[in-house]
Amino acid sequence: MFDLPKNILFRLDELSETYGLDKNEARAYSELFKNYRNQNFKEMNFSHAIAYALGRMPATYGVIKYVLERFKNTGENFSNILDIGAGVGALKIALQDCEINYEALEKSEAMRKVFRKLNGDNSKIYSKDFQKFQAETSYQAVFASYFINEIEDKILALKKIFDLSEKYVFILEPGTPSGFKNILEAKKIAAELDWYPLLPCTTRDCKLSDKDWCHFSIRLPRTKHHMKLKNAALPYEDEKFCYVIFSKKETKFFKNNIIIKRPIKKSGHTIFDVCTSDGIHRVVRTDKASKKLQWGDQL
Ligand SMILES: C[S@@+](CC[C@H](N)C(=O)[O-])C[C@H]1O[C@@H](n2cnc3c(N)ncnc32)[C@H](O)[C@@H]1O
Repeated sequence: MFDLPKNILFRLDELSETYGLDKNEARAYSELFKNYRNQNFKEMNFSHAIAYALGRMPATYGVIKYVLERFKNTGENFSNILDIGAGVGALKIALQDCEINYEALEKSEAMRKVFRKLNGDNSKIYSKDFQKFQAETSYQAVFASYFINEIEDKILALKKIFDLSEKYVFILEPGTPSGFKNILEAKKIAAELDWYPLLPCTTRDCKLSDKDWCHFSIRLPRTKHHMKLKNAALPYEDEKFCYVIFSKKETKFFKNNIIIKRPIKKSGHTIFDVCTSDGIHRVVRTDKASKKLQWGDQL
């Protein structure tokens, strides 16, 4: 489910070969991650953008696929979307088989260049800084994936995101306490602006603190570049993330009692940590149906 499409894998190979970055990729990758660790989101150069495409984008793509799949299951839909801080186009790739009008903002020239190499020159990606962006059209959905954590004034950015959207707002963040803090901030602003959380749960008043943060995990296949850049032995990795989707209108869709940790499977029973309206509870189930439930599902 989280494998990159074949045409994109092919273009990633081409990128790696054409720019002869092979020897430099690992260095660019470790520089990139040192910058991320130090919260130093300085302008990226072309090598960094290629390293992002080869070493990081496969994971953000997987998370986006997971979130879009969950959204689809709610029965809601949209026909156009604005992708803020699009990077090399993980969302565009995830939507490549859908009839959805896609537009993007990306301030880094290097990221835009790699975006076009992967997604074609006709892509509607604008060289605009989000903070200065004035929309000329309206968007049914606005998507911010691994973006808020890079922005200094998060409250202002979140308010603007809600302002730009007519129907849905998607916020995806790293699966860390600080990523979850941004999700809580988004929930607070959403409540003030009268938007409703749709996923991962419909609870407006989140009882979790960032000490027990709500996050999820997917297992991703690693591409050959990915393995090389990370010097990895295993052909897969687990990517942890936080997310929230808001709807402008209250929907009939209802979801709470979410399994917020990996279920512990024992012989004859399964143990779940479930987020309920009065906090986290440990629940033990012995029925067969429960065995199939996964982290992120509703109990
Ligand atoms: C971590 S990357 C995420 C890329 C992509 N959304 C993904 O999920 O793979 C964040 C991107 O946001 C861009 N960005 C940061 N601040 C921005 C701003 N003010 N306006 C537009 N893009 C911005 C960065 O250049 C970077 O490419």
